[in-house]
Amino acid sequence: MKDPKASSTYAFRAAILHSLGNPTERGLEDSYAYFDDGILVVADGHVIRVGDAKDILPTLDDAVSLTTFENKLITPGFIDTHIHYPQTGMIAAYGEQLLDWLNNYTFPEEKRFKDVDYARKVAVQFLDELARNGTTSALVFGTVHKESVDVFFQEAEKRNLRMIAGKVLMDRNAPEDLTDTPESGYADSKALIEKWHNKGRLHYAVTPRFAPTSTSEQLSLAGKLLQEYPDVYLHTHLSENPSEIAWVNELFPDSKNYLDVYDHHGLLSSRSIFAHGVHLCEGECQRLSDTGSAIAFCPTSNLFLGSGLFPLNKMEAKGIKVGMGTDVGAGTSFSLLQTMSEAYKVMQLQGEKLHPLKSLYQATLGGAKALSIDEHVGNFEAGKEADFVVLDLHATQLMKFRMEHTHSLEDQLFVLMTLGDDRAVAHTYSYGHCVYSKTS
Ligand code: GUN
Ligand code: ZN
Repeated sequence: MKDPKASSTYAFRAAILHSLGNPTERGLEDSYAYFDDGILVVADGHVIRVGDAKDILPTLDDAVSLTTFENKLITPGFIDTHIHYPQTGMIAAYGEQLLDWLNNYTFPEEKRFKDVDYARKVAVQFLDELARNGTTSALVFGTVHKESVDVFFQEAEKRNLRMIAGKVLMDRNAPEDLTDTPESGYADSKALIEKWHNKGRLHYAVTPRFAPTSTSEQLSLAGKLLQEYPDVYLHTHLSENPSEIAWVNELFPDSKNYLDVYDHHGLLSSRSIFAHGVHLCEGECQRLSDTGSAIAFCPTSNLFLGSGLFPLNKMEAKGIKVGMGTDVGAGTSFSLLQTMSEAYKVMQLQGEKLHPLKSLYQATLGGAKALSIDEHVGNFEAGKEADFVVLDLHATQLMKFRMEHTHSLEDQLFVLMTLGDDRAVAHTYSYGHCVYSKTS
């Protein structure tokens, strides 16, 4: 008779790569582990072991199910530290920078989420798209409608994904049918926290859209929620666009700078994630660093909206945690591979390099650290949740041809992230279960 414990164990054989730490802190060589012919052993949704096939194969019980992926690379699932699910239907909207883009495209689309059936339809499409792109965790904006977040969590729960999301708080400078009040925003957020925060793999983020669309009263109540629920997240936008920054200075004349508006209302901590931070001054960088707050670097969005070039190395030198975000729908791709490719170009434009192993770190373990979920996901340390992606290095004719001309892991990885996108994702696994397989 088969040992029932062994039969719930699964082993996956392929090349395997995962990050062990930040290359900038540890040095490149000590920042990753790579197994050319590797095995990842998984049981009950968790990583049991990872290593060379020659070491692990002899130790596996006959009952263990072994799946071999030829010419594939297994990495941890990608982690998107900033994305808007309600903007799935208006990605790639032409011609505007941030404030006009919000008024002309974003707000009209977000109004549609009053309809719960529409919200569910988009949530399903969105989660399918994440899986197709190998993204297993994300920090997600809803809309101002509490139902938009309720259906999002319902759909994420069905798939057992580790997700963080929140209802938008917005009580001014937006269309009337997209605003709440300080009191209703507080009460709706509280109800969602009580219902969803820490339910399975789900977590709640208090989500003021950005300083211009919240009164000081609303931001104070956001701070009150963080006091009442200390492990709840704070998720908002910061210093993305020059006109936005000028507007914040007008609306909050007593604040020293943009970040100071959030700081004044008690919104900075190691569970706070600020999207963009493209134009921060020294004082703002220092406060982010001192409070352990994180920035979501969103290169495709920053290029698409003409927002500016994120100074990644400067931020890291200040000790600020940085993760990668797609920021769909201002971002132009759900793919973290494409996001890494654009991040590289953003650094090139600043005369700096972004090593592919560093990019991989930021899209996996670094993202997990930015979101404080690294005790659960981000790499293949034994005991972590088995969220992983099986990548096809030969996904297109060009990738196959180009891979034949690579001479190192770094080369292969760089080609993968420069030429790859959802076509390179063969399978996505969440909590040890396959949630997506490419069909052709
Ligand atoms: N600032 C305020 N709202 C938004 C948004 O929806 N997208 C982006 N990129 N920036 C914002
Ligand atoms: Zn955004």
